[in-house]
Amino acid sequence: MAHPSERRRTFAIISHPDAGKTTLTERLLLYGGAIHAAGAVKSRKSKRAAVSDWMALEKQRGISVTSSVLQFEHGGARWNLLDTPGHNDFSEDTYRTLTAADCAIMVLDAARGVEPQTRKLFHVCRMRGTPIVTFVNKLDRPARDPFDLMSEVEDVLGVHTVPFTWPIGSGDRFQGVYNRRQALVARFKRTEAGNAKRVEMKVGGIDDPRLDEWLGDAPAETLRGEIELLDGAGEAWDRARFLSGELTPVFFGSALTSFGVEPFLTAFERLCPPPGPRDAGGTTVAPEDDRFSAFVFKVQANMDPSHRDRVAFARVCSGRFEPGMRVHHARLGKELRLNRAEQFFAQERQGVEEAWAGDIIGLYDPGLFRIGDTLSTGGALHFDAVPRFSPEHFGRLQLLDPLKRKQLQKGIHQLAEEGTVQLFAEPGREKDPICGVVGQLQFDVLTFRIEHEYGAKITFDRLPYQHARWVEGADTCDDLLARYIPMAVTDVDGAPVALFRDQWELDRAVRDNPSWTFHETAPIRATE
Ligand code: G4P
Repeated sequence: MAHPSERRRTFAIISHPDAGKTTLTERLLLYGGAIHAAGAVKSRKSKRAAVSDWMALEKQRGISVTSSVLQFEHGGARWNLLDTPGHNDFSEDTYRTLTAADCAIMVLDAARGVEPQTRKLFHVCRMRGTPIVTFVNKLDRPARDPFDLMSEVEDVLGVHTVPFTWPIGSGDRFQGVYNRRQALVARFKRTEAGNAKRVEMKVGGIDDPRLDEWLGDAPAETLRGEIELLDGAGEAWDRARFLSGELTPVFFGSALTSFGVEPFLTAFERLCPPPGPRDAGGTTVAPEDDRFSAFVFKVQANMDPSHRDRVAFARVCSGRFEPGMRVHHARLGKELRLNRAEQFFAQERQGVEEAWAGDIIGLYDPGLFRIGDTLSTGGALHFDAVPRFSPEHFGRLQLLDPLKRKQLQKGIHQLAEEGTVQLFAEPGREKDPICGVVGQLQFDVLTFRIEHEYGAKITFDRLPYQHARWVEGADTCDDLLARYIPMAVTDVDGAPVALFRDQWELDRAVRDNPSWTFHETAPIRATE
């Protein structure tokens, strides 16, 4: 009998805001049978509203707990869709969540191509070799030339593309897509309601004369030329290269009109791999291993601010989870019982009866868990799955009421444990820590939470840095400053970190100091 983990498909969707992630997610859930009506997933308008309501309502937590992972059964598989906060709540959490996924869907807007946030998220997937399937969206609107888009993906992201489908026109002239592997034309027909119908036509290959009849002479000729070019000069499909993240299959469609989504889901079912082995400090843990193991990739403050308890999200990597089981907590070096665990679907929480590799469990956390923690049975184990990522915004924390220093200390350290912020110290100015965040809005979250939960009013003096690098080869901040690094600070472990205002400064430092290695991430130590 197949191991239960082989049925698991754990994935995330990455995109730049507005490319259509929410729309595609909703359509996938609809086809997957997980929801029954369009509109069940938060619309963009409500996401917008969340910015202003957010401070007043419980939404101030940034991301709602309930949307962290959506689970559904489809096609004989158990799907776990991880939410990667993208709009206002873009943060280091977004990056960390990707470390828990086995595959990612990259959504591109056909008119815009590769945008900055897609690039960052892609980069994080690439660091782990996560396979990526690309969906080029909004073909019902005027789009860029598909060859142009493919070369942009290849040049900017450094991944080879293999189009599985190919668009026939775009915008008002969008006629559908040609499925290269099945020699199938899926025609796009607008309906009056603003939706689209899909009519499939099997053709005997790209030379089939019926194409001229159906599409018109000129579009058929264009399509032939393009497909010939792809067949002749394009990359060949290679599943192994896809699984190692070197090559991405590409699909074209229009999520809003549901065009191309169903075939995409069908193909994605075959493409998305089950959980694979994971590295844990020199050893490898296979999903089928009997011992239970999991790592914490996200810690979420409780929705109720009067309780300081939290939910720790852990990704199971091997074995079987059951409530009440005793596990070893690697960082604390002690045994503990996991009594309550929850799984989430939309607005519902359910107690977990069992979980296998690939599943995400939400553990009730009275303050025991931090990001990067490993839990396991059968001996100590530490996954090196979740690193610290370079923050992209920095601010020096100023306490407005000096009598509240104690509260501030407590609050900022708890929030750092939750992973909301990274703390740095500038030698000589340790009293005013420098905070680093990935998403700009995290500064507002911090200010608000420190005031409301810990009673200390703070503000941030924004600093002009954009990149942090952990420098292997430099022992102290003085070593960094002696080589004209613009700003040198230490992280919570006391390791020296170089800060740079822009890419140019960073590139120059890398060039001028060939004996040093500049790391974009730092491991979270097992014993911190
Ligand atoms: P996001 O989660 O990636 O930010 O994107 P989202 O799905 O919210 O989509 C952003 C906007 O793009 C929405 O329009 C959405 O309706 C539209 N959109 C998504 N997919 C397609 C598509 O295939 N074709 C076209 N033409 N539009 C698409 P909006 O008007 O900004 O918001 P809303 O009022 O529709 O919620």
